[in-house]
Amino acid sequence: MPWGASPPGRGIYRAVTAHWPGGADGAVLEAAADCFRDAGAGGVEWEDGRPAAAPFTDIPLDRAGTPFVRAYFPDDAAWPRIREQVRARLAALGATVRITTVREEDWAAAWKRYYRPLPLPGGYWVVPAWEDLPAEAAPERVIRLDPGMAFGTGTHPTTRMCLERLLEKELAGRQVMDLGAGSGVLALAAALRGARVLAVEPDPVALAVLEANLARNPAGRAVTAAAGTWAGQRDRVPQWDGVVANIIWEVLAPLLEDFPTRLAPGGWLLLSGILATREAELAERAQAAGLQPVFRRQEGDWLAVEFRRR
Ligand SMILES: C[S@@+](CC[C@H](N)C(=O)[O-])C[C@H]1O[C@@H](n2cnc3c(N)ncnc32)[C@H](O)[C@@H]1O
Repeated sequence: MPWGASPPGRGIYRAVTAHWPGGADGAVLEAAADCFRDAGAGGVEWEDGRPAAAPFTDIPLDRAGTPFVRAYFPDDAAWPRIREQVRARLAALGATVRITTVREEDWAAAWKRYYRPLPLPGGYWVVPAWEDLPAEAAPERVIRLDPGMAFGTGTHPTTRMCLERLLEKELAGRQVMDLGAGSGVLALAAALRGARVLAVEPDPVALAVLEANLARNPAGRAVTAAAGTWAGQRDRVPQWDGVVANIIWEVLAPLLEDFPTRLAPGGWLLLSGILATREAELAERAQAAGLQPVFRRQEGDWLAVEFRRR
């Protein structure tokens, strides 16, 4: 069970999915996640079965392209009461609610079925911790991951765009911060390119996953994990040669002015987790902060943008 609920004897769960066909913003999704947690769910889910922690790092969309949040509850004596409680609260949030039945073993298998070794440019790979290495993968170019409850399998467009950019860089001896490190996948990629990395993560559950992933990778020796956020960790070194941050706009926007004050001259700031609709505002604020755009990639609605300190 990704979020540690004790499996009931029969191994049957009720999946409760709240949809907003007319759209919903992050605050509504977070209120729905709170509703699920108050009812005893240990986690909520993204579109491909990966668990997500509020505050939402992006808006999960279902196949119809509408926002959704999902949680699982054991089918035990408490279920009828929980069902009524979550139905009432989700209705008050304007959600359409669907309830389905899931067998635990199917669910576990489904999660892993989506997560396969991921080839990346330059012969690099992200390989699930439980999979054999692909024959063509050189061990020194592999990131071994068990993302558990943390964001960062490598497959989400925001992560992959950052991975591809980081793996192009020559980072020998460079001091890099991975802000919002999640599973640690970006920190490990930077370390594979030679960087010394501080991986900063405020969520204690994700931090434990991050530390386990650092321990299972030789490159993890070049990475230090730290609990916290930018404000508490930005002064760990005099200046950063690079900062990568794949986090929601609401977290990144207030930091845009401060990032360049801690970047070395010519230092880079690689941001993702930004919806393309924010691009004009991002460009304006970055320019005002003395940041020069040097790279842009878009996949679907998602942007990754790199700036240099002028
Ligand atoms: C989208 S995930 C990115 C994980 C990984 N770096 C990746 O690219 O896949 C964002 C991470 O930022 C963390 N986070 C949320 N708020 C934050 C904040 N204010 N400062 C730093 N990290 C934060 C979340 O806990 C989450 O692990």
